[in-house]
Amino acid sequence: MAESLDTALVPAHVAVIMDGNGRWAQRRGLSRSEGHRAGTRTAKAIVTRARELGVRHLTLYTFSRENWSRPKDEVALIFDLLVEYMKGELANLLDQDIRLLVLGDFDGLPFVARQSLAHVMAKTAHCRAMTLNLALNYSGREEILRASRALAQKCAAGTLEPESLDEAAFAAELYTAGQPDPDLIIRTSGELRLSNYLLFQAAYAEFYFTDTLWPDFDAAELERALADYQRRQRRFGKTGEQVAE
Ligand code: FPP
Repeated sequence: MAESLDTALVPAHVAVIMDGNGRWAQRRGLSRSEGHRAGTRTAKAIVTRARELGVRHLTLYTFSRENWSRPKDEVALIFDLLVEYMKGELANLLDQDIRLLVLGDFDGLPFVARQSLAHVMAKTAHCRAMTLNLALNYSGREEILRASRALAQKCAAGTLEPESLDEAAFAAELYTAGQPDPDLIIRTSGELRLSNYLLFQAAYAEFYFTDTLWPDFDAAELERALADYQRRQRRFGKTGEQVAE
């Protein structure tokens, strides 16, 4: 292992903004498709390494609601890669005891993608070592609005008292219901933005930004990110002295 990691302090939930596929390809004189292909290979390797390191929840920002505005053929290629990934990785996910979930507006995904995702989700539903969340057709603001709508409907129906609505009840309406908030959010390619990602859940997340483009993000860099996280003191609003007590 390149970095010495305290296995007891591995973040339970790591969320990644996989950015830089296009620039990686451009720098090599390749098409953007080749960048996404390379990015998919990286995703496979990072899923495996995260699970080996003891990460219990890994969330990959695979397709945002805003990504629909990309050229049609690029969108089609990303979903082709996703379907290929589902076909090729089912056996590996089962072997590694990894459960697949989708965060986002599932019904708005292309039919073939929905079919293959539903198949893998059903087959891996019993897996417990790690949950792999793919954020697909995802928007953090839409997720918050959707939860608000569901809660407002419960209030209108008289099954929920507005006064009894607390953070836990709100979190239970999010796509991540039942999962812990991300402890660490990684963004590659030098961009310093959250891009509508896990807005409610990111409240106390630590951030790791790297200039590395996603296709070049390897197991060693994942370990560096986790080691960096372990050197930080998480305060959750308290003073440093209080946390040390
Ligand atoms: C970011 O690079 C990548 C995306 C928005 C595309 C989705 C990710 C993959 C294809 C890899 C993972 C796939 C699976 C199936 C898990 P960019 O295109 O925004 O790069 P750029 O900013 O350099 O143009």
